[in-house]
Amino acid sequence: MLQTFATCNWNETFSTDTQEEALENLEKGHILYFPHLRFEILPEENFFLDPKHADPHAKNISYHSSQNKLWGVQRLTDTEWIKLKILLDRFAQKTLKLVKTLLPHYFNELTIGRTSFRPIQLSDRKSSYRKDDKLLHFDAFPSDPSHGKRILRLFTNINPQGEAHIWRVSEPFENVVKQFLADLSEPMPGSAKILRFLRITKSYRTLYDHYMLQLHDKMKANREYQKSAPGKEIIFPPGSTWMMLTDQTSHALMKGQYILEQTFYVPINAMKNPVQSPLHILETMLGQRLV
Ligand code: CO
Repeated sequence: MLQTFATCNWNETFSTDTQEEALENLEKGHILYFPHLRFEILPEENFFLDPKHADPHAKNISYHSSQNKLWGVQRLTDTEWIKLKILLDRFAQKTLKLVKTLLPHYFNELTIGRTSFRPIQLSDRKSSYRKDDKLLHFDAFPSDPSHGKRILRLFTNINPQGEAHIWRVSEPFENVVKQFLADLSEPMPGSAKILRFLRITKSYRTLYDHYMLQLHDKMKANREYQKSAPGKEIIFPPGSTWMMLTDQTSHALMKGQYILEQTFYVPINAMKNPVQSPLHILETMLGQRLV
């Protein structure tokens, strides 16, 4: 499940063989793991490593580089606000560089999504089961339909107290869908239009988005499944970085505080093996076009 890299520099270059192997593994649902790739927090930025800056109503502090937007924070002065933006922007730029040099196949097609910073301890957070990321799931966003685009995410542990992030990863996408296929139901006629009209979704919720959300919710709601699903615990120590297609790799975030996360979107036609995409697998198993 894990391809490990010796990389310790965000500007590192990779051989064609390494690039191809990384691409193959990523699209199979494996995790690309960089145990020595540390994201440096400057001394004056240590101030931000404190849960008090996070808005308790939000799961993360979020930043969008192309929209120059920062949200999910509280009680920051204007100067602090700008400094936090600079930190998150630096992370977004470094991760973009890494993804482009390691995965040049995606180079022209990649779009940059949000940058997130979570200073709170995950296991302390009380939430509804749908929002509980300690349960195995594939990523799917209720308000932000992906239309089949792949969700590529890069994470880095910046815990200043030496604490690891503990994740659980489970079985391949196809195996999970097989177990939940009978539970999936069609959307109510016209519901995608209503959701869009009410601005509950930022764009039209396709059938693909509908089924991915159902899968996400049904997996999280099924306690028996959560207990019995095969899985492996992975420990990500501070100073480590990892990357995966989170719409395809079943994952649960068991424990961890202080993490940076960068989201990218990759269109299916930019993939090397589009047949491995959740869209293709779902369309084959349901016997219909979903986008
Ligand atoms: Co997730």
